[in-house]
Amino acid sequence: MRLIERPEEMRAWVMDRHGRGVTVGLVPTMGALHEGHLSLMRAAVQENGTAVASIFVNPTQFGPDEDYERYPRAFEADCQKAEAEGIAAIYAPDARTMYPLEHSTYVEEEALSRGLCGRSRPGHFRGVTTVVAKLFNAVLPTRAYFGQKDAQQCAVIRRMARDLDFGVEIIELPIVREADGLALSSRNQYLSPEERQEALGIHRGLRAAEALLKEGARDAATVVQAVKDEMGGLRIDYVELLDAHTLEPLATARGTVLLAVAAWAGGTRLIDNLKTQVI
Ligand code: PAJ
Repeated sequence: MRLIERPEEMRAWVMDRHGRGVTVGLVPTMGALHEGHLSLMRAAVQENGTAVASIFVNPTQFGPDEDYERYPRAFEADCQKAEAEGIAAIYAPDARTMYPLEHSTYVEEEALSRGLCGRSRPGHFRGVTTVVAKLFNAVLPTRAYFGQKDAQQCAVIRRMARDLDFGVEIIELPIVREADGLALSSRNQYLSPEERQEALGIHRGLRAAEALLKEGARDAATVVQAVKDEMGGLRIDYVELLDAHTLEPLATARGTVLLAVAAWAGGTRLIDNLKTQVI
């Protein structure tokens, strides 16, 4: 497995593959790899001639009071995990390479990134779209793989790729969970045993809402309340029922719906969601 730290080297490596007609899958990550990341890598390896993973803790997507400094970093172990999945190259520039002095250009999506996490984390998606655009320009992937865990991020990146003619196919894969239902996240490491127990309320809430929707419930307020009822102990940021494609809030469930949750367990912000078809 190659370790590549500079965009021009990354592009040369990938252009060589494109020249031979090899398709390239990219899995962007911030490292501290877990089974959720590895599921994306498995798909990228399987569906492309070669696969690249990026590891970069992106400062521009963290707010000033957020956890950039203490975000878990495990570079050596991450490289071993990626290699075991068949990743051919890791792209891991340092922060100065990604953002040279006097960097002053950003990419901003102006519709889908407004609500949900965009409301509670101003500037977050601007950082995400900027870094993902830069990763696409360095890696020139045929396909890029993202997790439904960050459903709004997927929608925003898909819109950006279309609007800016990146010509990258955006692939969204299901949420990987612990046996007890907690969605895997690098931030789960922050949870105390008590907080981890409380965090399970998110999944319980989503399951309760799913059951209600299956039984025919369509009123958004009822469905949202069913989620909140299971979330005692957590500080809720949002629970919203939206159209999964437009991310418009819905009063009545219809079509493909996204039930999106963000909540704090102690000092740790967790997100999770459910996507389902309602007839
Ligand atoms: P990170 O949080 O490291 O996540 C990398 C990818 O793994 C994202 O597409 C995310 O949705 C996916 N992922 C995380 N947990 C998952 C789970 N439990 N099941 C399935 N997929 C999961 O998301 C980012 O990094 C950054 O914002 C990034 C896109 C790399 C830009 O900096």
